Amino acid sequence: MGQGELVQIGSITISPALINTACAWASSFDQLQALYLTSLTGAVTTRTSTLKGYNESSSCGVVFTSSSTSSLNSYGYSPLPLSVYLGWVKEILSDAIASSNRKPLKPFIISITACSTEELVPMISLVQELRSTPMFSSLIAIELNTSCPNVSHASPSGYAPSSIRPLLRTLYEAHMRDKSLVIGLKLPPYTHRGQFDDMISLLMEFNYNDANKGRCNSFAFLTCTNTLGNSLLFPDQVTEALRTPESKVTTEFAVPTAVGGLAGDAIHALSLGNVYTFHQLLLENDGLRGISIIGVGGVTSPAALARMHKAGASVVGIATLLGKEGIRAFELLSN
Ligand SMILES: Cc1cc2nc3c(=O)[nH]c(=O)nc-3n(C[C@H](O)[C@H](O)[C@H](O)COP(=O)(O)O)c2cc1C
Repeated sequence: MGQGELVQIGSITISPALINTACAWASSFDQLQALYLTSLTGAVTTRTSTLKGYNESSSCGVVFTSSSTSSLNSYGYSPLPLSVYLGWVKEILSDAIASSNRKPLKPFIISITACSTEELVPMISLVQELRSTPMFSSLIAIELNTSCPNVSHASPSGYAPSSIRPLLRTLYEAHMRDKSLVIGLKLPPYTHRGQFDDMISLLMEFNYNDANKGRCNSFAFLTCTNTLGNSLLFPDQVTEALRTPESKVTTEFAVPTAVGGLAGDAIHALSLGNVYTFHQLLLENDGLRGISIIGVGGVTSPAALARMHKAGASVVGIATLLGKEGIRAFELLSN
């Protein structure tokens, strides 16, 4: 599967097969609009939001390594609630529709997270409310983030798949009520086979028989991988250490929290391995075979992008390179 090709994931179409993933550089209206307007992205993913907004502390931030295109970040979720992102998505899509006489194809992937079904249910309703406008229905997908490593006292739920069963059941029910709703899961990087098997077993619980498609699954895609948690860098390893506004002095570590989520070149091999293993395992099951993989992690060159496709990704995503280069990142990858 090449980057220039058109990829169909459920009711959404991604072309080119290159996108940004949920990150701090897909957080504001201007950032999302710029990501939408460039012809080099096939979809735009919003930063992960919650129902009410996340309480961001001054120790949240990101640093880049000096020796490679890697990053370490201590961010949790967006301080802005889901409703703000949906308002922006509506505005950007409406503008795109008004300025062209045909329906724009480029979709948004709305990254969300919730710690309970009580929180998730109204979030799905908000998304479905926006999708009820016929023009938007095939332009908005949901990605459930199960893998942020930086939330204190909350380990990434993707490492304990049974803990997200209730959330997945809620999403499954939403999909069964409206099969055009495209839902994906953002997964953490796994390091051994048992972790993959546990996630595959959980996904199999949401297989069903469809009159047209036969055996299929309520989840349309897996985004592999998020950052590698509990990683530590020292100030001399990064271009500029993160300082909190209170203390102008560089902290002992590259980020004030000491540990954070590692991304970019430093996790590329691990992300490739995750994409490859899931690709193989999904093919082994009738219901799971139709699930697409969005490959993410250390895609910082055209060669890395090609490797993601070779490992089994149908769409490729970037965060660190976007943070370092801005929108130009997509040009660097497209050359
Ligand atoms: C600063 C920063 C913020 C991020 N925020 C999110 C987020 O809100 N939600 C999410 O699912 N992933 C988040 N990620 C993870 C990225 O989407 C991506 O999975 C990861 O960084 C690996 O891709 P990369 O090597 O291209 O950076 C973030 C990554 C970075 C660097």
